[in-house]
Amino acid sequence: MTFELQHTDPSSDARTGLITTAHGQIKTPIFMPVGTCGSVKGVHFSELKEQVKAQIILGNTYHLYLRPGLDILKSAGGLHKFNGWDRPILTDSGGFQVFSLTGIRKLKEEGCEFRSHIDGSKHFFTPENVMDTERIIGADIIMAFDECPPGDSDYQYARKSLQLTQRWLDRCIRRFNETEPLYGYNQSLFPIVQGCTYKDLRREAAKYIADKGADGNAIGGLAVGEPTEVMYEMIETVNDILPKDKPRYLMGVGTPQNILEAIERGVDMFDCVMPTRNGRNAMLFTYNGTINIRNKKWENDFSPIDPEGCDTDIVYTKAYLHHLFKAQELLAMQIASIHNLAFYLRLVSDARTHIEQGDFTIWKRSVMDNLGRRI
Ligand code: GUN
Repeated sequence: MTFELQHTDPSSDARTGLITTAHGQIKTPIFMPVGTCGSVKGVHFSELKEQVKAQIILGNTYHLYLRPGLDILKSAGGLHKFNGWDRPILTDSGGFQVFSLTGIRKLKEEGCEFRSHIDGSKHFFTPENVMDTERIIGADIIMAFDECPPGDSDYQYARKSLQLTQRWLDRCIRRFNETEPLYGYNQSLFPIVQGCTYKDLRREAAKYIADKGADGNAIGGLAVGEPTEVMYEMIETVNDILPKDKPRYLMGVGTPQNILEAIERGVDMFDCVMPTRNGRNAMLFTYNGTINIRNKKWENDFSPIDPEGCDTDIVYTKAYLHHLFKAQELLAMQIASIHNLAFYLRLVSDARTHIEQGDFTIWKRSVMDNLGRRI
């Protein structure tokens, strides 16, 4: 994988770039639709390509390891062959998922023992077997196995957790370097900065990771309950230190406003379940604000879902989508998911355009207030 920095905004840290992987190129800043179990919920790959204009999707080691399991993924020849998505894929390591299983997991130096959310069976993730699993899944970009501590962790816990994540990172790197890709193309390993909301820990974590010379670096442990201003401060602290010539990925974030704030601070890659999850709950993101399409006010609104949006947004009206949600039709969730993902991809595409034009901050200021409205 390579990253070529292309434009930098004159009045902020925003930048555009081009990532090149074995499965194609990715223009940054980019949003990656989440395909936890190897599918983006409710959205066909043809729609992901033609309507949403997705350049890369994300998969989850935890879920794919449990189901369909490694034997099937290996027999298929990796996730690209199994699900038919021929563009880049990134896999999260399972760190975040395993650690959200409070009560059914045990943390040790060696790794983390947990019980499957599917059948209660016991499993043990270590940095080594997570690297082996991510080799078998075969994503272009794979994430290190980290501990994502609770958002309200005290300093002592946050420090000890960070040290464990650092030791696990070294073990991930060692295993990654000792093993070969299984399917004839290269994979890149991204380390993850942790450190909760403690600036000194974040700084230390970023320095530790900057020295590893990875193809890209991620910022984790944010958007876990802290105020957004604190999240932005942590991003600034970390991005001051992370290499400028490598992509920076902010994990699991966030709202359209969060994404623009992070782009302004030099972040290049994002993922979040919000566009699909909220879409399934009838919430639509637009440049004019968020819409609850179940609201009676849309019952007689025969205007397109979004006149500036993708084909799906033009073909269907708000009144029709309102009806589909009321009637609990599956198509309701599909249309809302496509709309929201297409909106997120349009948002980052517009951000790229304005970074290239040199007026990103002016554009951002002009859209921020409306994005936060409820209409
Ligand atoms: N997804 C969102 N946040 C995180 C994090 O801190 N670590 C991992 N592995 N995945 C995440």
